[in-house]
Amino acid sequence: MTITRIPVRGESPYEVVVGADVLTEVAAAVGCPARALVVCADRVSAAATGLLRHLLAAGIATEQYILPGTEADKAVETLARLWDVLASFEVSRTDCVVAVGGGSTTDLVGFAAATWLRGVRVVHVPTTLLGMVDAAVGGKTGINTAAGKNLVGAFHPPVGVVCDLTFLASLPDPDYTAGLAEVAKAGFIADPEILDLLEADPRAHVRELIERAVRVKAEVVGADLREGGRREILNYGHTLGHAIERLQHYRWRHGDAVAVGMVFAAALGRLGGHLDRPTADRHRTLLRRLGLPTSYDARAWPALHAAMRLDKKSRGGRLRFIVLDGLGTPGVLDDPPTELLESAYAEVSAG
Ligand SMILES: NC(=O)c1ccc[n+]([C@@H]2O[C@H](COP(=O)([O-])OP(=O)(O)OC[C@H]3O[C@@H](n4cnc5c(N)ncnc54)[C@H](O)[C@@H]3O)[C@@H](O)[C@H]2O)c1
Repeated sequence: MTITRIPVRGESPYEVVVGADVLTEVAAAVGCPARALVVCADRVSAAATGLLRHLLAAGIATEQYILPGTEADKAVETLARLWDVLASFEVSRTDCVVAVGGGSTTDLVGFAAATWLRGVRVVHVPTTLLGMVDAAVGGKTGINTAAGKNLVGAFHPPVGVVCDLTFLASLPDPDYTAGLAEVAKAGFIADPEILDLLEADPRAHVRELIERAVRVKAEVVGADLREGGRREILNYGHTLGHAIERLQHYRWRHGDAVAVGMVFAAALGRLGGHLDRPTADRHRTLLRRLGLPTSYDARAWPALHAAMRLDKKSRGGRLRFIVLDGLGTPGVLDDPPTELLESAYAEVSAG
């Protein structure tokens, strides 16, 4: 069994462990003496029973709480229930919460851990591809409210992340494909070798792809936890992507929306004179080949434009986009003219 350990630097450094059958690693991340509350998404609770055994064998008193583990859980009502569970288990500052599930679960449980006693330790055990390469790494936690998605949250880095690849065997294809969008993003913004592996055969290279994408995220969030600077590059494809998610009332998977957003960002980069045509075209060709959407309704532009201006990442209504100056070389396009945005969107809708 080979284990890869990827360090995430910063104020509270931690490791992301990647490998098959690596749940024994969770005990080391929890540490002793401690008690652990394992909060687990229903779909993976059977696969996670080994985790409870490992924790108990390591002398860690462990309790389990099972959630549905879907986006609907990222709500204040579920958060309140979780606080009650933390209270009934008398979770103290020396104890640890372990989140087992996709990004919905790690976001919610991470936020519960951030707020309980003003912050208790959390270990993330992501079980989706998106969770492994994105949601569980970097310390962003949060829930959705009536006003929108992820508007309430906290930066609360985990003390460890354990990516056990065996979970991916049960992941439905559409979730796997959506996760590949964030892997491709890491390739475009920082590690072009990822793109070659995706073009060759994503399933055959899944472990290397996860490790490479985690390294990209780890390097970026290690340098900038709170989105003051370099972390912004992780938003590649996300400005339009978030607007699409909003228009679709969050029925589209995040990765699907980001895929369309990356095609848009590539067109913006090319039409704005930053990016060459072959690299821009490579976006559409690769993402389509992975089974991701690369186009969206032409008539949706006014609504998408309005939604982008409302996004929490726009600055006083001024739009900012991450564009590429070349593969692995991201830059910022601040407040581009409306005609440029329209021309780029025309390419997306024509695709
Ligand atoms: N914090 C961050 O930095 C960050 C980054 C990206 C996304 N996110 C958040 O992540 C969430 C999306 O995460 P997701 O795509 O993992 O979705 P998800 O957590 O909603 O999981 C999708 C579905 O798959 C199930 N599932 C999980 N693991 C499984 C497995 N191994 N086998 C079978 N089914 C499994 C889940 O229970 C759920 O029904 C969104 O809420 C998004 O906002 C957060």
